Amino acid sequence: MAVTSTSLASQLSGPKSISSASFAPNFSGLRRSCSKLDYFNSQSVSSTQSFFDHVHSSLRISSSGKACRGVIAMAGSGKFFVGGNWKCNGTKDSISKLVSDLNSSKLEPDVDVVVAPPFVYIDQVKNSITDRIEISAQNSWVGKGGAFTGEISVEQLKDLGCKWVILGHSERRHVIGENDEFIGKKAAYALSQGVGVIACIGELLQEREAGKTFDVCFQQLKAYADAVPSWDNIVIAYEPVWAIGTGKVATPEQAQEVHVAVRDWLKKNVSAEVASRTRIIYGGSVNGGNCSELAKKEDIDGFLVGGASLKGPEFAVIVNSVTSKKVAA
Ligand code: PGA
Repeated sequence: MAVTSTSLASQLSGPKSISSASFAPNFSGLRRSCSKLDYFNSQSVSSTQSFFDHVHSSLRISSSGKACRGVIAMAGSGKFFVGGNWKCNGTKDSISKLVSDLNSSKLEPDVDVVVAPPFVYIDQVKNSITDRIEISAQNSWVGKGGAFTGEISVEQLKDLGCKWVILGHSERRHVIGENDEFIGKKAAYALSQGVGVIACIGELLQEREAGKTFDVCFQQLKAYADAVPSWDNIVIAYEPVWAIGTGKVATPEQAQEVHVAVRDWLKKNVSAEVASRTRIIYGGSVNGGNCSELAKKEDIDGFLVGGASLKGPEFAVIVNSVTSKKVAA
């Protein structure tokens, strides 16, 4: 039995992954885990049997290689979540084609699937897309609607059937100039109206190169934490800015390193329960070719997808990458 971990990940949270071909036949399918963080922090593994029992009761499974099966500890207990962020793209015609492609795609059942059309097409999409896929907005006003020219209120989004809103996206932070506090207030208001928040965080390239990735992400997380009364309806999207729309996807190890740090931050600053159940999804040049390797990482609970979400069949492949977390047949 081998216990493996990335160096930084292990500094943050202790042992992470367990691989053993001999364990695999005892498990099948996708299991919900209890808080691994709690387990490893609250007790030492005193015997192979107790360790095995824990693995059996609480780990989700993944195919990890060609010749042998592997077991990957899933840090979170939340359902896999994949969002498509269509950004400022599309026409009535192209969106009608995209919706029809999505409606005819076979999507794995154990995934929450959400698409975020531009505001002006939300009604069209909601009225034509399968109920299997929920709708998100890409932004919302910070409070109740009223005399705010050009803005869209959470109340209006609800009226159209939106269940989610993407907030804190890097394009709104760095192109439009929204700051942490404003984004936190928007999140709190959306939640107060019963709309879920896909809360984006992520560092610029120069911040990563200066070794500030964690500082930046934690500061952005803190702004959400300071503003929201509960994490019940929040999905965190880690989207390194240098990976968004650039074709330079983070490696699975780079993404995992930040995801485990984010989960650890939640555990220390919010609660172990929130750390376990909050989905932490990755975004930034995810596509049909790289999603499977990313999905195998234990702290990656899904994806926020931009460019590749504009192609129905490819988006379906990304949704279905949840199967990477299951035992190979
Ligand atoms: P991308 O965008 O997949 O095109 O990199 C991701 C996002 O901005 O959410």
